[in-house]
Parts: sequence; structure tokens; C-alpha cells
Amino acid sequence: MIPSYTLYKIMSNQLKKIQELIDLRAEARLGGGQKAIDKQHERGKYTARERIAQLLDEGSFEELDMFVRHRCTNFGQEKKSYPGDGVVTGYGTIDGRLVYVFAQDFTVFGGSLSETMALKICKVMDMAMRMGAPVIGLNDSGGARIQEGINALAGYAEIFQRNILASGVIPQISGILGPCAGGAVYSPALTDFTVMAKGISYMFLTGPKVVKTVTGEDVTQDQLGGAEVHATKSGVTHFAAEDGEDAIRIIRRLFSFIPQNNLEEAPLAECNDPIDRLEDSLNEIIPDSANRPYDMFQVIGAIVDNGEFLEIQHDYAKNIIIGFARFNGQSVGIVANQPKYLAGVLDSNASRKAARFVRFCDAFNIPLVTLVDVPGFLPGTGQEYNGVILHGAKLLYAYGEATVPKVTVTLRKSYGGSHIVMSCKQLRGDMNYAWPSAEIAVMGGAGAVEVLYAKEAKAAEDPKAVLAEKEEEYNKLFCNPYNAAKYGYIDDVIEPRNTRFRIIKALQQLATKKVVNPAKKHGNIPL
Ligand code: HXC
Repeated sequence: MIPSYTLYKIMSNQLKKIQELIDLRAEARLGGGQKAIDKQHERGKYTARERIAQLLDEGSFEELDMFVRHRCTNFGQEKKSYPGDGVVTGYGTIDGRLVYVFAQDFTVFGGSLSETMALKICKVMDMAMRMGAPVIGLNDSGGARIQEGINALAGYAEIFQRNILASGVIPQISGILGPCAGGAVYSPALTDFTVMAKGISYMFLTGPKVVKTVTGEDVTQDQLGGAEVHATKSGVTHFAAEDGEDAIRIIRRLFSFIPQNNLEEAPLAECNDPIDRLEDSLNEIIPDSANRPYDMFQVIGAIVDNGEFLEIQHDYAKNIIIGFARFNGQSVGIVANQPKYLAGVLDSNASRKAARFVRFCDAFNIPLVTLVDVPGFLPGTGQEYNGVILHGAKLLYAYGEATVPKVTVTLRKSYGGSHIVMSCKQLRGDMNYAWPSAEIAVMGGAGAVEVLYAKEAKAAEDPKAVLAEKEEEYNKLFCNPYNAAKYGYIDDVIEPRNTRFRIIKALQQLATKKVVNPAKKHGNIPL
């Protein structure tokens, strides 16, 4: 039996050690200190821990590596160190689903990446891969920690390597909630989705000062790589949130549509929207004139569960719409031409935008629903010099490679190469439907008769009448869905108001679909 005096001594030591732990934890939770936290708030930004609290289910966060410190002794760094260094890492849940997170802590050396920070980030990435759970990274960093030199660069490379190996295995989402500059931008670029926040985020390879020195150009950080620039001009970001909180909300919503990993399906949501809901407005949505636009968002809103659609890259290449929605609670990726913008034509940017999305959906077992109204590829030197051939081929490749259920509905135009690219039957489209207003042909009537009958028309007394007559003949023969349906290229011509039900029936039927592509190391997508 232990004498009571000794017991008291043991207890006392233990309590002291517990107090030390509590103090250390409190110190770590302060990151770079209260002053730095106040400054972060003054900048309109939340701290790493505040962001994690917003992101995860309440009380679910389990922090790792809180006591890791940097090991650098250059420039007197040994005198300045903070428990946890410049990143908060760990795991928790979103809507009860496991997720790994890292949030760079700008209050510690501006969130700049040290060797040990990289080790912390790599640890959660490795754990996410082992457990088959998504990784969400919240970036807010001055880049490589300058004092650590090449070790910081090596740390970045270790992270990039993991981003690459995790690609297509677990979903990776990046929030950009502060600076993200230099080579550091490549980690978010390698992930599946990037969410920036207006006013506080920017991404660029070289900052305004270097730009001025090298090219003489005067630009602000926002003009060079702010959220709006990357949402509208470069397409680097998928979302431009109103602020940091909004960015986190978007990440949570996005997360609800995607599965844990490439072997699982996205979570099934409860559906209280009748699956056989008829939407009469769709029977009148196509204008009489082929050149008049309508809004594809109205079609999407009318057919998906409760009209809820999470659009991705809203402000980039608006001639194509991509995003997530649900049919009978099942998550799907929607790709749709937008007749309201550039007549829904396919161009380089639209092709790249849609191709990457199709590949994400295919990698993560999310069925694709494609809504077609496309007059063709945008012609001209602008596009050709920009490599539209290669970009269009990316979309072609993505659809042709995809083995997830593919349901296509042609609403109106589907001409030429763009008909093929937009998930046609021969690209292994599973169910290809068309509305009675569909026009599936090599090209539109007016263009076709110009090619076929230009000489005949020129020789005729009334060239216009000849062309009009031939155009009518052509339209009758080709500009309808029945010619394609005759060959089985269209599985059925459906009433527009019944589109929701027909898509849901198709998806139910395709639930057990199994298609395996030929074994290979990897394909060679025209990058
Ligand atoms: C070490 C850094 C740092 C860095 C910022 N800090 N960036 N410390 N290495 N890279 C420190 C600052 O010294 C400061 O410390 C604190 O973080 C906050 O920074 P401020 O400058 O006061 O903040 P702010 O005015 O908001 O400006 C933020 C900033 C600026 C725009 C990010 O700090 C900056 O320009 N930093 C350098 C960016 C950079 O060039 N990084 C290298 C990029 S090259 P104190 O102690 O004063 O609070 C790169 C290569 C990666 O990253 C390659 C990967 C392949």
C-alpha cells in the first residue's frame, strides 16, 4: 500500500503536468499571439481555428501536432517559435462525415510554409488517403518561409506530390482565404475545387512588384490575382465567395454532393420533391425562332430536386453551365449549354471548364446529366490560335473516357462536332433522349444549303427562293430528333414536361452500370 503522503506527492506532480499541458494548449491556441490575432481580424480575416470551427460540425475537431515547432536556426529563428507552427491540422466531420483539414495560420510568420508545417500537412493528407476521406485545405500564407530556404521548397514539393497521388482517389478542396503566392498556388491548382473570397484572397505566381520589374506593367494584387479575376478571366477558381464565411459555407455545401472517395457513392439525400412532377412550363420554353435564346437555368431549376443547383464557375465561360444537383436525392453532375450566352456555342474555355468537371464526376462515381442545345464550335482565328482543337478534344476525351451513368437530353440544336462532343450515343451515352424540338444534324439548315446549293442558287433567277426551298427540305429531313432516333442514336423522344421523371427512371436503371476501360498506365488526354 502507498503511504498517503507519497500519493499526495504523485498527485501533485501529475496535476502540475496536467496544468503544464493546459498552459501549452492555451499557448498553441493563441498561434502568433493576441496582437497578431487582432491584426488578422483587422484585415477582415478569421484565424485558422475560427475557420475550422466554422467548417466542421460543432465539437467534432480533433487537433493533431499541436506541439510541433519549427527546427530552423537561421536568422535567429530559434528564438522565435510557436507551438503548432504556422498551421492547424486534424480531422473532424461535416454533416457527420469524416474529413481531414489543415488551415494555415497567418498569425505565425504570416502562415509561411516551414519544413515542419509541410510535415504536418503531409501527415493529414496521408491519413486521409489511408482512411479514404476528403482533405480540405484552408490557405492563408506568405509562401515559402524565407528563413528556411530550400527546406521550405522541399516541403511544398512533398505536398504537391501528395496532391497528385490523391487526385481521383479522395476529393481535395482548397479554400483560399488570404494570400497564396509563388509556387504555393500549385497545391490548390492540383486539387479538385478552389474557393476564393472577394477582398481577402489572391493567387499569383509573381506579385505586382516582380510584374512591374519584368514587364513594366502596373497592377494591384486584386487586379493580378483577386477572386473576381480568377472567377471571370482565368477560371483558376471555381467560386468567388462574398467573404471568408461565405467561402466556408460554399465548401460545406459542395461537400454534400461528393463522396468520401473513389470507391464510394455520394451521400443520398432525402427527396421530398415528387419524382413524377410534371413541369408544364418546359413544353413552352423553346422559342419559335431557332435564333432566339432561352435560359437553360430555368430548365435545370425545373427538373432537379426542389430546384436546387450548386453552380460551379458561374462567371467563367458562361456559354456552358456546370454544377451539382440531385435527382430523387441522388447527386449528379450537370453539364448544359447556355443558349442565352453566345448562343451556347462551344469554345476553348467552355470545353476546358466542362472537361475538368466531367472528369471529376467520373473519378468520383457521380452520374452525368447533359442538357444539349449547341450550335457548334465557335469559328475564327481567335479560337484556332488559342488551340480550340485541343480544348474541344479534352471534352471529347472526358466524355468518351467516363464510365459513370451518362444521361443526355437534347433540347434543341445539336450540330456537327459539338453534337458528338456533348455526350452522344457513340461516346457511350447510356440514355440519350431528345425533345420534339431537337435538331440533330451535321449543321443548321441555312449553312448547309449555302454549301450544297450555292452554285445552283447563283445560276437561278431567284437565288433566295432556291435557297429557302432547299433549306426547308433540309430542315424537314434533318432538323428534327426522328432522323437520329431512326438509327437508335436517340433512345426516345420525350415530352419536355416529363423530363425530370425520365431522367430519374434512367438513373435508377443505370444504378448497377459496370463498364471498365482497357487497362493502361494512364491515357494521354490532350492537355
Ligand atoms: C517568412 C513571412 C513570410 C515568408 C510573411 N512573413 N511572409 N515570414 N517567410 N514568406 C511574415 C512577415 O515578416 C510578418 O512577420 C508576418 O509574416 C506578417 O506579414 P506582413 O507583411 O506584416 O503582412 P501583410 O502586410 O498582410 O503582407 C502579407 C504578404 C507579405 C503580402 C504575404 O508578407 C509578403 O509579401 N510576404 C512575402 C511573400 C513572398 O514573396 N513569399 C515567397 C514567395 S516564393 P512579423 O514578424 O513582422 O509579424 C514562394 C516559393 C514557393 O513561396 C515555391 C513552391 C514551389
